Amino acid sequence: MATLPSSTRSIPDVSSVPRHIAIIMDGNGRWAKKRFMPRVMGHQRGVESLREAVRVCRDLGVEYLTVFAFSSENWRRPVDEVSFLMSLFLKMLEREIVNLHKNNIRLKIIGDRSRFDDALQRTMQSAEQLTAGNTGLTLTIAANYGGRWDMMHAVHGLLRDRPDLATTFSEEDLMPYLSMSEAPEPDLFIRTGGEKRISNFMLWQLAYTELHFTDTLWPAFDRKELERAISSYQQRERRFGRTSEQLSGAQEQIPSKQGKPRA
Ligand code: IPE
Ligand code: IPE
Ligand code: MG
Repeated sequence: MATLPSSTRSIPDVSSVPRHIAIIMDGNGRWAKKRFMPRVMGHQRGVESLREAVRVCRDLGVEYLTVFAFSSENWRRPVDEVSFLMSLFLKMLEREIVNLHKNNIRLKIIGDRSRFDDALQRTMQSAEQLTAGNTGLTLTIAANYGGRWDMMHAVHGLLRDRPDLATTFSEEDLMPYLSMSEAPEPDLFIRTGGEKRISNFMLWQLAYTELHFTDTLWPAFDRKELERAISSYQQRERRFGRTSEQLSGAQEQIPSKQGKPRA
């Protein structure tokens, strides 16, 4: 299996437009509550924001957009809200897939699907199959996904295939088994809704991602907000462990074998 570069093993190429944006779409419930509406109306309105984010990414030439739609911990919510989210998911896939396909968008779903009902699992599979050959933006929806689940699932897969590597496997051995193995690591992570936490999103892949937090609630997150996040990303200096001087080329430091700079 081919492995993409890892931010902890080599220095990735950095471009001005992020190649991969990952978003925690948070704040739907509070958006609705503020308007004296049931929480689920916020989820419904959130679909519009996702459509807009997909459009902006396509326009700007972002290659991968990965969004957190339902975490492995969201099953703890009230039964009614969970079942609303499941039917919204199904409806959204059925309604949007033709449009995504027309726009050359490849849809992928990551997470443990075994807990979803048969109809949803079937629709997920056919949506992925239909768009598998598309070469535009890759939109990945994380559903019943958790970063810890992803890592455990990868380790189980690797040990099943290569029990001989049990105590010696490397990052490169493990990476092909992770959910996002075909995508570069996210350049930019955005969380809407004001919370400053990762909530078990892509724990492995966010190692060197630039983080952007905004108080804007997801249903109110529009083109301007996304462009603002990207321009804040463009001001960052991505050092991947190196010094600022190394990046500007002002002072070249070559570590000796002992890991100390040469005198
Ligand atoms: C995010 O919005 C959507 C899901 C987790 C499904 P929330 O539903 O978490 O909205 P808040 O955070 O309660 O406002
Ligand atoms: C994270 O949001 C998951 C999704 C947006 C799908 P939550 O609202 O579930 O996160 P916490 O509970 O505030 O950490
Ligand atoms: Mg929330």
